[in-house]
Amino acid sequence: MKALEGKVAVVTGATGGLGGAICAALAQAGARVVVGYNRRADAAHALLAELPGDGHLAVATPVTDSAVLGRLAATVQDHFGRCDLLVNCAGTTRFVAHADLDSLDDALIDSILATNVRGPIACVRALAPLLKASGDGLVVNISSIAARTAMGSNIAYCASKAAVDNLTQSLARALAPQVRVVSVAPGLADTEFVQGLAQAWRDEQAARTPLGRLALAAEVARAVVALATHLTFTTGAVIPVDGGRPLS
Ligand SMILES: NC(=O)c1ccc[n+]([C@@H]2O[C@H](COP(=O)([O-])OP(=O)(O)OC[C@H]3O[C@@H](n4cnc5c(N)ncnc54)[C@H](OP(=O)(O)O)[C@@H]3O)[C@@H](O)[C@H]2O)c1
Repeated sequence: MKALEGKVAVVTGATGGLGGAICAALAQAGARVVVGYNRRADAAHALLAELPGDGHLAVATPVTDSAVLGRLAATVQDHFGRCDLLVNCAGTTRFVAHADLDSLDDALIDSILATNVRGPIACVRALAPLLKASGDGLVVNISSIAARTAMGSNIAYCASKAAVDNLTQSLARALAPQVRVVSVAPGLADTEFVQGLAQAWRDEQAARTPLGRLALAAEVARAVVALATHLTFTTGAVIPVDGGRPLS
């Protein structure tokens, strides 16, 4: 029997580099996965077709639309009758040099905070009754090394991820003992998002990382699976997957 057999996991931002790897790892471990997408239903269905196991479902999870998230909870209840794991992986950002305050306009700040901070809270709020009923509920918030280092794509993004780690603690306290809540904080991961950046910059980031490279999406995904399968007395914590980058 696989470790997560019988469990149902909802993953937001599943069409992204990390979200796709997390869906694959959870499905590999035996979970039925709700592949949560925003704009790219076609990518979600393509991922669905590739996942190991069966019983997976693609559902729209625009994390800034609480009405749709309410319908997501109803769909998960109707379809699976349960939800054991929520992975808040949806996130947004745009590169703005930290010193260039004028380019960090209000619309960008609002969009980052609505997606990266309000989004995870809204998803937990929508799915909390199902997660509590699970008896073994877990929320994993994908934050970032930027929460700790304040080095990241822009100032608002770094602040949004610090807020995620903070709300992980509040939610862990509020939802205990039925539901654990943990942040997974990746360093720069080798996803499509990062592959669009200059090679020289990526090389520099790898060189500044004690383990000498960027994170693999699969390594971030394994941290999520480990929280569900092995780290069962962990809540309100931040698990780094960053190769020791803050040490240098
Ligand atoms: N890659 C890294 O180096 C890295 C490092 C640390 C932390 N992270 C965090 O890891 C998470 C995933 O990153 P990634 O590299 O996989 O990024 P990505 O490839 O850009 O994926 C982001 C995902 O979030 C979805 N999304 C964006 N806005 C949304 C909204 N309003 N509602 C629902 N979904 C939304 C996107 O869907 P659409 O494209 O359809 O909008 C996409 O599926 C993010 O939270 C990111 O901040 C990434």
